[in-house]
Amino acid sequence: MKAQLENIYNSAKSDISKAVSIAEIDDIRLKYLSRKGEFNSIKKGLKDLSDEEKRTVGAFANQITEELENLLKEKHDAFYQKEMNERLQKDRIDITLSGKYVPQGKVHPLTSTTDEIVSIFQNLGFSVVAPELSPEVETEYYNFDMLNVPKDHPARDVQDTFYVKDFAGVVLRSQTSGAQIHVMENQKPPIKVIAPGRVYRNENINARKNNFFHQIEGLYVDKNITFGDLKGVLNEFIRLYFGSARPTRFRSSFFPFTEPSAEVDVQCIMCQGKGCRTCSGTGWLEVLGCGMVDTNVLKGVGIDPDVYTGFAFGMGVERLAMLKYAIDDIRLFFNNDKRFLEQF
Ligand code: DAH
Repeated sequence: MKAQLENIYNSAKSDISKAVSIAEIDDIRLKYLSRKGEFNSIKKGLKDLSDEEKRTVGAFANQITEELENLLKEKHDAFYQKEMNERLQKDRIDITLSGKYVPQGKVHPLTSTTDEIVSIFQNLGFSVVAPELSPEVETEYYNFDMLNVPKDHPARDVQDTFYVKDFAGVVLRSQTSGAQIHVMENQKPPIKVIAPGRVYRNENINARKNNFFHQIEGLYVDKNITFGDLKGVLNEFIRLYFGSARPTRFRSSFFPFTEPSAEVDVQCIMCQGKGCRTCSGTGWLEVLGCGMVDTNVLKGVGIDPDVYTGFAFGMGVERLAMLKYAIDDIRLFFNNDKRFLEQF
């Protein structure tokens, strides 16, 4: 019986030495050492032996079983290491490869500029008017009449303003100033509001002019509002929007709905004031109109000009964005060229 065990032991050892994979090692273990394996079937015969033989043959059986277990384990571990190393080599990740391009949308520069301006005025105590008080499709009544614009004013001409076909007196608003009237009709002073929005003009399109653009209207009506308040608020706005280093100037002007009226110019960023195509050689770009609300306008909406005064302003969003980011053509905002939009 001992000889039988030795035979099996030798054949198992030779099988193990020939094995080349974990799978083969597992098969060998099954063949020799499992419950139904060859060793077990021989060990069953132990019970028929004398006590003396049981002890020596049993001990021998245990010894070679243990030796085979150790050999199997050794081989198994070696193969496992080898297979693992091969897998690690094969599945290796190249962390220097560039990632997949995931296109990402951006906020349009006019939207971010509007948001920035709105937030500056909100910090100065202005609130944004409800959209229904600032419609893009307007009547001449709000766009011109109530703003003290004479019937024969050139701005009313079809060459300047878009009239809605088949609806007499309906226009695409040429300015956001109509929002002033809507607000004052709906609210008693103190009034301190801004109204951002799109306006339309019948322009020949070029680098400086588009047939629609964006404005932010402002209106502050209360007791004792002065031109000093107007200058204080607008200077503070310019300081916050451009930083204090940018030269600006207040220049007297005329608008039918304000008296006195002024315009604010900001030094041209393209030429640093030397004069170029963008600023028509003047070195300055006008960014807003403003003034003290005309008494005719206040009377029109039933506000007593002897009790209340106010100031108003209207600024061009495209101009302000162009001056901040050195953009020399207004059409870039509207032709959806990703090379331009992706820079913001
Ligand atoms: N509505 C004027 C324009 O489009 C700008 C403007 C000037 C608005 C003076 C105002 C103002 O509120 O007071 O050119």
